[in-house]
Amino acid sequence: MNALFDLSAEDAKARHAQLVKEIRRHDALYYQQDAPELSDAEYDALRRELEQIEADYPALVKADSPTQTVGAAPAKGFKKVHHSTPMLSLSNVFSEEELTDFLERIRRFLKLPEDETIEILAEPKIDGLSCALRYEDRKLVLAATRGDGVEGEDITANVMTIADVPKTLPQDAPEILEVRGEIYMRRDEFVALNAAQERAGEKIFANPRNAAAGSIRQLDSAVTASRNLHFFAYGVGEVSDPQAVATTAESATPLQFYIIQNLKRWGFSVAEKMGVFETLDALMDNYRFILSARADIPYDIDGIVYKVNRLDWQARLGFVSRAPRWATAHKFPAERAVTKLTAIEIQVGRTGALTPVARLESITVGGVVVSNATLHNEDEIARKDIREGDTVVIQRAGDVIPQVVEVLLDKRPADSKPFPYPDHCPVCGSLAIREEGDAIRRCTGGLVCRAQAVERLKHFVSRLAFDIEGLGAKIIEQFYEEELIRSPVDIFTLEARNDTLEPPIREKEGWGELSEKNLFAAINARREMALNRFIYALGIRHIGEATAKRLAATYGSFEALEEVMGKTQDREGAAYGELLNIEDIGPAAADELVAFFAEAHNQEILKGLQAQIRIQPYDTPKSADSPVAGKTLVFTGSLSISRSEAKAQAERLGAKVAGSVSKKTDYVIAGEDAGSKLKKAQELGVTVLTEEEWIALVS
Ligand code: IVH
Repeated sequence: MNALFDLSAEDAKARHAQLVKEIRRHDALYYQQDAPELSDAEYDALRRELEQIEADYPALVKADSPTQTVGAAPAKGFKKVHHSTPMLSLSNVFSEEELTDFLERIRRFLKLPEDETIEILAEPKIDGLSCALRYEDRKLVLAATRGDGVEGEDITANVMTIADVPKTLPQDAPEILEVRGEIYMRRDEFVALNAAQERAGEKIFANPRNAAAGSIRQLDSAVTASRNLHFFAYGVGEVSDPQAVATTAESATPLQFYIIQNLKRWGFSVAEKMGVFETLDALMDNYRFILSARADIPYDIDGIVYKVNRLDWQARLGFVSRAPRWATAHKFPAERAVTKLTAIEIQVGRTGALTPVARLESITVGGVVVSNATLHNEDEIARKDIREGDTVVIQRAGDVIPQVVEVLLDKRPADSKPFPYPDHCPVCGSLAIREEGDAIRRCTGGLVCRAQAVERLKHFVSRLAFDIEGLGAKIIEQFYEEELIRSPVDIFTLEARNDTLEPPIREKEGWGELSEKNLFAAINARREMALNRFIYALGIRHIGEATAKRLAATYGSFEALEEVMGKTQDREGAAYGELLNIEDIGPAAADELVAFFAEAHNQEILKGLQAQIRIQPYDTPKSADSPVAGKTLVFTGSLSISRSEAKAQAERLGAKVAGSVSKKTDYVIAGEDAGSKLKKAQELGVTVLTEEEWIALVS
């Protein structure tokens, strides 16, 4: 069947030209700008129409037609993959003191006696990109990037080209095995690749890590195959038989080191130079040894990773936000470079904080081009007497923002003057003041200040808050300038106002019917919002993601939160006292919250938002049949496990742990020598459990 049979040669030619142009535009949006406007199906429809016309009128086929470029239609990007267990990141230590703290914290958390040895597995931290490999029935079925830790990208086709990655496993490997590790490129291969890229007039990579990432993020796996990539395994995710993965024929005690041994036996490459150490001194010796051998190792390493060897201890230690308590990265010292500081600029943030930023003559530090550095605050500038025009030493450590560590005074120009720190907001001109004890000067303009208003809007739509795709930083700035969006409420009324706008969004430069439609769809998808994200989105100072979650868990619904806030004006009252009782909420955070809810303008915005969206009540994450899910507990006295472990355990079961006893407390768990809290519980008639009763209840 020829659907276009009645298209005249004239029309076909015109439509062909139009389609070629459109497809090219969408290819560019997709591949170069990472900003597709079409769904896969819409894009495919355009291509099919083009193919049909060319089939009917072969004279229209040109070498550069999208139908003629490499093989079939390129796969549109990478599919998303949900990780069955999250891929975590690592905390860092930079010194012997911090390493000591790390080990001490573990000892305290596990309540280990001083003479009990904590075995630590130390392995080099390879600077590449992390990858999860999933084997089912001993066959590689899926490879995924880490992404945000919860969701990554499906890079199976490309990983299939890496020789180090086994495609099948021996019979004794478990049925389901997810191996985690790092994809990397050796330094010599990186140098050779860049030389070849340069000859071909192609992109030069900044460092081996970027080269590895760029090679993996290829839509054409033939390109990936032509690059030399390697993989080393450092751990496991989901496994069908955890015991088999973590033990050996000789020992039934599950250890991290046995995981590595088994992975090696099943054909994976593992890091060289790894070892198990028992003391701080041995760990420090190993650190210095590897640091001195760094240049002889053929790939980039940026530190040493330490992991508690015993897996039962790992399980007890658990996680804090996104990093395990049982592991950390001991980073190598920062790299430094000398450059010229051309200007000091003052940025104004969401909470009005004035932050000085150094603009630098661009320079490469540890393989990354740096053109800005943080100057922290006004005192820091004064203390180091940093001036515009100075030659400075900057340093960069890991992903940390580069810092100015020193001014080279002998290079200072004769006419240089100390930097006059502004006492007015450079954006809105309002007075900028420093409160007692605060290192930061803040603009007092509030929402009158354009910078604060825009930053708050950016925060409101950011990933952990409303997460509205299509309302990026640039668009927020533009729509703010054009007065289309001045408050969060305006985001949700935009669609209704659109047809009265001059011009409507679809007619703005860079927009079209489809992108307009997508924007409204993205906004409308957020008319139901989880309470914790909503609270976080408000951008109240000191109320971060974790604290917002605690508030949501404590009050349950937005109505309840508002009601309590209405009563917190009285600092002596019960409502304020209860607020302070919440973990993580100190007087500073409490005061910010109270002030936020008391402000008339904020109340108006909250009312406006409630008319537009539905804020879902908070569901305490329940371990389905945990008897303490949603309950409030207080631990007191001394327990056989540490207080931190008891708290972490209760929270895993969906309970809230409070610092003091009130009528709202469900259980008080009283260890030995419990004092005033136990007494208060008895007075209030709160159920008191012994540690044994608590263990019986939750196990
Ligand atoms: S363990 C829960 N081991 O470093 C443990 N990570 O900063 C998480 N990395 O995402 C990872 N070498 O990409 C681990 N020997 C090693 C590693 C390693 C490199 C990377 C990995 C991770 C990142 C965390």
